[in-house]
Amino acid sequence: MTTTLSVRRIALGFACLLGLGAAASPAAAQGELTVYCSVQEEWCRPMMQAFERSTGIKVSMTRKSSGETYAQIKAEAANPRGDIWWGGTGDPHLQAAEENLSEPYQSPALAQLLPWARKQAEQSGFKTVGIYAGALGYSYNTQQLQRRNLPAPACWADLAKPEYRDEVQVADPNSSGTAYTKVATLVQLMGEDKAFEFMRAMHRNVNQYTRSGAAPARAVATGESLIGITFLHDAVTQAIAGAPVKIVAPCEGTGYEIGSMSIIKGARNMANAKRFYDWALTPEAQALAIEANSYQVPSNSASKVPPQSPNLADIKLIDYNFAKFGSSAERTRLLARWDAEVRNAPRR
Ligand code: G6P
Repeated sequence: MTTTLSVRRIALGFACLLGLGAAASPAAAQGELTVYCSVQEEWCRPMMQAFERSTGIKVSMTRKSSGETYAQIKAEAANPRGDIWWGGTGDPHLQAAEENLSEPYQSPALAQLLPWARKQAEQSGFKTVGIYAGALGYSYNTQQLQRRNLPAPACWADLAKPEYRDEVQVADPNSSGTAYTKVATLVQLMGEDKAFEFMRAMHRNVNQYTRSGAAPARAVATGESLIGITFLHDAVTQAIAGAPVKIVAPCEGTGYEIGSMSIIKGARNMANAKRFYDWALTPEAQALAIEANSYQVPSNSASKVPPQSPNLADIKLIDYNFAKFGSSAERTRLLARWDAEVRNAPRR
């Protein structure tokens, strides 16, 4: 990555001084790649390092949440700086596709992908593709629950109850794809007006709207927040690290994400972006997730599903309408309604 590369640049400088020329650096020969990464930093880093090792391509990586990355790509559209957007929830990737911010590409690896990952590609005109899946829900800190003598929550509806005042943490859906998945899930489960009524009631219990989607799982692990709404696999990461957390797939049913990858339209390093894309879909690259304690379900049918991954077949999943909730008009409208009716709603 960038740090490694500055070392290589210095080395190259010396090589030139010694009259060895640019050919002394395989990285310089292979060129560069700028990746916008929207999974956890802990997974972004080893992924980029492995790609650099296997190709000699110099990667410069920035980690930002899904909504933030979408906004950045849109802001840079006239002069694109990124080459590839890897990870993050599918809805903003679909919105970017519809807004012509991403480049169609049909990887030879498409045929190896599970149906939900291929469908993501097909319905976007091959401008994005599924790389992993994960169900939404929440976790709570069992020690804090006991200490406060509170009942264990089991449903979405519980999160609006007065006994959990200031005890719930969730991200802001403008920056976070996780939190947008929550808004879209509740709208699909309850109907739009009821969902907003529920989110206004739950707002009284929210202690913080974080920027990043997985932050509430960490806050639950440390006991800073009693309850945190995240993807279930983000809470699994904390449980495996030994935190006293219990993971809840809400009783009413829940939504899920198709974590996605897109090539940015006008990418300066288009050939390298395609190389990364093909590589990221291989079982070898997807296997790096588990080493980084990330427990999503991988999209390549030959990839091993980590045994710790929440089993999606055991969870009551809604038939999430990605075409609708990933559309530009719907995502823009729902975020504006959330800003107007939830973020600024009275707390008392
Ligand atoms: C975490 C999850 C990913 C998810 C991502 C979305 O990294 O492990 O599965 O795609 O969050 O991030 P965001 O910050 O946009 O909610």
